Order: sequence, then C-alpha cells, then structure tokens
Amino acid sequence: MREQFLVFGAPAIEDAEIQEVVATMRSGWLGTGPRVARFEREFAAYKAAEHAAAVNSCTAALHLALLASGVKPGDEVITTALTFCATVNAIIHAGATPVLADVDPVTMNIDPADVTRKLTGRTKALVPVHFAGRPCDMKSLSGLAERHGMKMIEDCAHAIETMYRGRKAGTFGDFGCFSFYVTKNVVTGEGGMVLTMREEDLARIKVLALHGMSKDAWKRFSDEGYRHYQVVDAGFKYNMMDIQAAIGIHQLERVEANWQRRQEIWQRYDEAFAGLPITRPAAPERDTRHAYHLYTLLIDERTARTSRDHFLDGMTRQKIGVGVHYLSIPEHPYYQEAFGWRPEDFPNAMRIGRQTVSIPLSARLSNSDVEDVIAAVRSIVRGA
Ligand SMILES: Cc1ncc(COP(=O)(O)O)c(C=O)c1O
Repeated sequence: MREQFLVFGAPAIEDAEIQEVVATMRSGWLGTGPRVARFEREFAAYKAAEHAAAVNSCTAALHLALLASGVKPGDEVITTALTFCATVNAIIHAGATPVLADVDPVTMNIDPADVTRKLTGRTKALVPVHFAGRPCDMKSLSGLAERHGMKMIEDCAHAIETMYRGRKAGTFGDFGCFSFYVTKNVVTGEGGMVLTMREEDLARIKVLALHGMSKDAWKRFSDEGYRHYQVVDAGFKYNMMDIQAAIGIHQLERVEANWQRRQEIWQRYDEAFAGLPITRPAAPERDTRHAYHLYTLLIDERTARTSRDHFLDGMTRQKIGVGVHYLSIPEHPYYQEAFGWRPEDFPNAMRIGRQTVSIPLSARLSNSDVEDVIAAVRSIVRGA
C-alpha cells in the first residue's frame, strides 16, 4: 500500500508559478493590477472570447452574470439537479427563483426535454453546467434559449478546455463562468472568470465586482496619478488579486499539456476498469472536446456488491483521496425546506448522486500514482 495519502484534486504547480508569485509580492502590487489584466487578456484569447473579467470565484462569476443578465425577484432560472450547490445559491443570491431540470442518465448533463417541461412565463434564464467537462447539448439549449427569450449563463467550472462542434464552452451563452479553485483544471487558489461578448455586459460586471465603483477604479493608486471614482451601484467585493493571477498566468500556459496528461490517465482508467462491474464515464460525443475534469465511476450496489459509501471508505483506507460530484441538489435539507424539492422527482440525478465516485485525475499524478488508484479500485470491487 502507498505510504502517502494521495490528495484528491491536488494541482500541478511548477516553478514558474512560484517565481511569479514571489515577483508579485516583491513588486508591492498584490491586489488587482497588471497581472490580473494580463490573465484576463490571455484567458479571453485562449477561449476566443471578446471580453473577460477576473473575479475571486466562480460563485461570484455566476452571481454577477445573473445580475448583469437582469434577472429580478419573481423571475425563474432553470438549472440542473446535478451540480455543486454554488450554481443554485448564485441564483438565489441574485433574487431569482431556481427551478431544477433532471439530467440525461448517460451524459449527466441537463436534459433539454426536461428544461422544456419546466418553462413557464416567468422563466428568464438558463444555467447549464458542462458536467465533469463534457459539453451540454448546446444545439438544443441554445435553440430553447433563443425561442423563449431566455438569457443563458454557462457554468463552466469544469469546462475550461471543453468544445462543442468547434466552439468553445463559455462562448455560447450571454455569459460563461469559470472556476480556478484548487481542484480545477487551471488553478489560482480561489478565483473565477466571466466571459462575455458584449462591452456593456463587461462594464457592468467590472463595476459590480469592485463595490460598484466606476470603471477602472483599480487604477486609482497607479503611476497614472490618483483618480477619483464614483460609486454607481451597490456592488460586491469580488475582485481577483495579482497574487492569484500570477499563478493563473503560468497555469494557463500549460493548460493544453495538462489536458493531454489527463486524457492519457483517463484512457488508462478506461482500459483498466473495462471488465469490472461498475459503470465508467461515457465516451466523449463526436465533434466535441471533453475537458477531462472528473473521472466518475458509478457503483451500483446490486452489481458491484459493494455500496458507494463502502467504496469511498475503502479507497480512503488505501490512501487514495476520492470525491463525490455530487449528491443531487434535492438531497439537501435547505432546498427541500425552501422549495419543496424531493430527490425522487429528479430520478436520474438522484441515482447518479447516490452511486457516483470521482477518482484522482490531476495532471500531477505520476504513472505509479495512477497504478495505485487502479489497484485500489480493483481490490475493492473484486474483493467485495
Ligand atoms: C459546477 C460548479 N459550479 C460552481 C462552482 C463554484 O466554483 P468556486 O469554488 O470557484 O466558487 C463549482 C466549484 O466546485 C462547481 O463545481
């Protein structure tokens, strides 16, 4: 057995990030500044997007995108029942009412047919999540958004490298929201980004992200001379710091190399688990690019002869870190009480949430780490 615990989602950090953080600290400009501006430019270029605004989390990105899309109390916003709580909480913080749609059992992404069933005269926006890095059915969802006059805000927390029919995730909707949390494909510690194609949307996001202070207020202490600012809205404190951007700039330089490495690990897992009585992730669909953010196994107690929770414990005992992405949203007491949601009403999300396990997939894994993960999975499933 391994000596050291394999931390789930530990990022691949290299010397370039460390040196850039040190240089940032030595520069005296730690807060939002030139490195954030550079990270925004380079991220927008990578995504072939017109505009990017860096913030301090994807949760903040979603909140601001929803506000900038104009949703108001009484408006309904449809999202998936299989996501991290932040997606739903952002809708609530924007003052709107979240409405859940079930997922497709194979892709685990929001099911456009269920979105159609959930539309009402109050539906104002749609928040699809490209789950695990697999693109949603953007043809159907974009069509629905257009026909029903809904804004679309893509939750791309898992989907930095994702593409659908030649187009990059986060550029289909009015806004694309990204996460650079420690376990993500590009990390800044905590951090997020909003992409948008419209200049006026960018301006509103920027103002809301920094207290509602007028444009380019972050420059007020720069060598261009002190500038007065005006508060034009009751904004938030969501700005990214240069220390974070220092990490992100170099992470972004290696985004494709890290993607290649995760693709290799993904293929090795696929081969190794082919004969086991557990369900592997579906192959990526034709003409799409999967971001390979999460490798999720489904453990069905009836066929695997072990429960998902025993599997989690078994992996931990063998010093392999694991995750659960996610218990379906209606499993949580807050949402049950606030909205009367019941897991059984979203049967696909419920089943996946009760069977799913994410195993390590970071580009940091060595070949021997990967073989340790495989050996642990095999011993638990075979030994059951
Ligand atoms: C699907 C999804 N949306 C939103 C978020 C929130 O991201 P952040 O932690 O950057 O706020 C996460 C983070 O795990 C996520 O997985």
